[in-house]
Amino acid sequence: MSAVAEQTRLETRLLADRINALEESSTLAMTKMARELAAQGHKVISLSVGEPDFKTPAHICEAAKKAIDDGFHGYSPVAGYPDLRKAIADKLKRDNNIDWKPENIVVSTGAKHSLANVIQVLVNPGDEVVIFAPYWVSYSEMVKLAEGKSVVVDGAFENDFKVTADQLEAAITPRTKIVMYASPNNPTGAVYSEQELRDIAAVLEKHEGVYVLADEIYEYINFTEEGHFSIGSIPALKDRVITVNGVAKGYAMTGWRIGFIAAAKWIADGVEKLQGQVTSGTNSIAQKAATAAFNGPKEPSIEMAKAYHRRRDLVVGLLKDIPGFKVNVPQGAFYAFPDVSYYFGKSDGETTINDSDDFANWLLHRSYVSTVAGSGFGAPNCIRISTAAADEALEEAVKRIKDAVATLK
Ligand SMILES: Cc1ncc(COP(=O)(O)O)c(C=O)c1O
Repeated sequence: MSAVAEQTRLETRLLADRINALEESSTLAMTKMARELAAQGHKVISLSVGEPDFKTPAHICEAAKKAIDDGFHGYSPVAGYPDLRKAIADKLKRDNNIDWKPENIVVSTGAKHSLANVIQVLVNPGDEVVIFAPYWVSYSEMVKLAEGKSVVVDGAFENDFKVTADQLEAAITPRTKIVMYASPNNPTGAVYSEQELRDIAAVLEKHEGVYVLADEIYEYINFTEEGHFSIGSIPALKDRVITVNGVAKGYAMTGWRIGFIAAAKWIADGVEKLQGQVTSGTNSIAQKAATAAFNGPKEPSIEMAKAYHRRRDLVVGLLKDIPGFKVNVPQGAFYAFPDVSYYFGKSDGETTINDSDDFANWLLHRSYVSTVAGSGFGAPNCIRISTAAADEALEEAVKRIKDAVATLK
């Protein structure tokens, strides 16, 4: 073993077990590798990151500048400024038909932080968390950190990657504490309809100790005619649903780091208590920007969603032309998620592709297109391609993918 490898091995042993047990985020790892190749001078098209390619709308930026000038420089209340919590309560009533007071809302440093907080607050060691797969990469790792057990339920490709009420019923045990899902979904773009969520709610009504963690961060990027439906609006479940959302995707504000939960008071109080010991109130300037976002016009979000819709059509159309790819039609978010397993076991003469990790790595190094392997999302036959990029970049990327797979025999 080299001296460097030995040093790394020793250092790893010093880290806490809970950190050694964690997987590195596959989306961040691919993005890092793509940056390194770009820095070496390669013409990389980066479609691995889950980030809007739009700028934050001007009126939101203005609110942040004003907050600096007005002197919002100090610690904020742990759960967020009262005007932001009121703006979120109004938003939930207006958009989601969910009636919570500001005291039921806790603002955190991104929806990711909100999700992690809830899991820490509700999950005891050994509790089961049912996760609808394909799922966002961080869900299972958050459960691991809380010493819970992930129970992954696969949504079938034929059902647009969605889990059915019957599948959920079969997965619930006396140890189930939480059921968690995202709609619109990352990585599949699947959107659960009102009827599908009502069927799921009917199952959950029978299981009193089970809570629902509804991740609605892609709410505004929804291409269905029916639009978004929030499970938290169903009265029989209201006290057991924790609705998570934020500003990152719908307002193109990923770097501002504002997310929130809306939940029964005892859960909100638990999250506030945890956050009070770990991070305190989130960034004061970003909170003022988020208040302007939630209270402001919807048009910028609607315009961005239209662009994602158009690009969805473009990319799905092009991907369907690639021999062997199985492609679903995402109903929201900004990803395509083709099944590429047709190519497993094939080789370009140098590299054999055995799984989605091999496929994504090979594609990056051979054609300089960065995507993310489906394995980290609980879908080992697929790769995730972000469609949050310019049309020309998307067209060029899919052309490179098509040319690359044509060499696999
Ligand atoms: C499904 C899902 N939930 C939550 C998040 C995190 O959002 P935020 O940037 O607000 O932490 C993401 C970000 O990629 C996501 O895809």
